[in-house]
Amino acid sequence: MSEEPVIICRCNDVTEEEIVALIEEGITDIEVIKRLTRIGMGPCQGRTCIPLVQSIIARRTGKPMEEISSPTSRHPVKPVRMGVFAGEEVEE
Ligand code: FES
Repeated sequence: MSEEPVIICRCNDVTEEEIVALIEEGITDIEVIKRLTRIGMGPCQGRTCIPLVQSIIARRTGKPMEEISSPTSRHPVKPVRMGVFAGEEVEE
């Protein structure tokens, strides 16, 4: 009987096992973990997975949570008018 994987990032299907494997390889920078796994890049923008990954890093490294940084958030490359999402015609 195998255990079900613990999903940390539901938006991008990233498991706790994947995060722990990276930390055990010595990768403890959340920005690097984000780039390797795409945590925090889903529709929820990491609302749940980022704090979970921060707590895993803290637990595995023994660092206090206050010392675990947060990844930088990025704005869309090109601003998009909200009407575009509602089907508004786009003038080029
Ligand atoms: S749960 Fe990770 S980006 Fe949404």
